[in-house]
Amino acid sequence: MARIIGGVGCSHIPSVGAAMDNGKTQEPYWKPLFDGYEPAREWMRKANPDVVIVVYNDHAAAFDISLTPMFTIGAAPEFLPADEGYGRRKVPNVRGYPELASHLIESLVFDEFDINTALEMDVDHGLTVPLSVMYGQPREWPCRVIPLAVNVVKYPQPLGRRCYKLGKAIRKAVDEFDEDLTVAIFGTGGMSHQLQGERAGLVNPDFDKAFLDDLSGDVARLTNIGHVEYMREAGSEGIELIMWLVMRGALDDKVHEVYRHYHVPASNTGAGLIILENDQ
Ligand code: DHB
Ligand code: FE
Repeated sequence: MARIIGGVGCSHIPSVGAAMDNGKTQEPYWKPLFDGYEPAREWMRKANPDVVIVVYNDHAAAFDISLTPMFTIGAAPEFLPADEGYGRRKVPNVRGYPELASHLIESLVFDEFDINTALEMDVDHGLTVPLSVMYGQPREWPCRVIPLAVNVVKYPQPLGRRCYKLGKAIRKAVDEFDEDLTVAIFGTGGMSHQLQGERAGLVNPDFDKAFLDDLSGDVARLTNIGHVEYMREAGSEGIELIMWLVMRGALDDKVHEVYRHYHVPASNTGAGLIILENDQ
């Protein structure tokens, strides 16, 4: 049977991808951030999952802002890095897993989550940057990927509580998939950041650290954070953190933290990385 071996929370900052693509990771601005990624990459090499479910959001690259589906799973055999205005990132194409994706979609719809099926979908920095953070710069990504895109950009976004429940339904679906596979799940985006408006540049390390603590401490507090609290405490893009709750929901009730790295500033964001494993 398939089983989930761990969860990763990871910011998806475009300039972190660009720093790697342009050979800048050893420059003084970037080195402390990238040094902190090394133990996570070591965990990833050892864990070596067959499949990674990447919960991310599209930033108006695949979906025009006029049409923003709530939850979309990519069921294609391959996904190309999106052209976000400067050409496609020169990273490997992302290999999908149509059989597992179709199983997930069916199981989730029967569990009353109305998931859209994408048969063609370019994947933007929200998905490719966390792959780069966790795997470095391989010629091919060493795993197959199931993209799960969540609307966090157009009001009303789903509640964190809903995302957590979606994670639980994903867990059930993976457990029921009749193939011997190891699966990791990434929740991406966050942590606190606001990219525009009066409070552009807002980062709230106290909020971010408490969020990291409560992923293994008090998940109920996190699932009760509402849109206004995200906006107030974590800035207008802080709501991306609801995607970490999908990841958290797919793990056991009791988890332990394997690794964390938190760094400010990285571009405009409190850059967070956490690895969680089930206690058993
Ligand atoms: C930044 C962070 C994001 O999550 C994003 O989608 C775009 C930009 C940033 O910090 O620059
Ligand atoms: Fe983002």
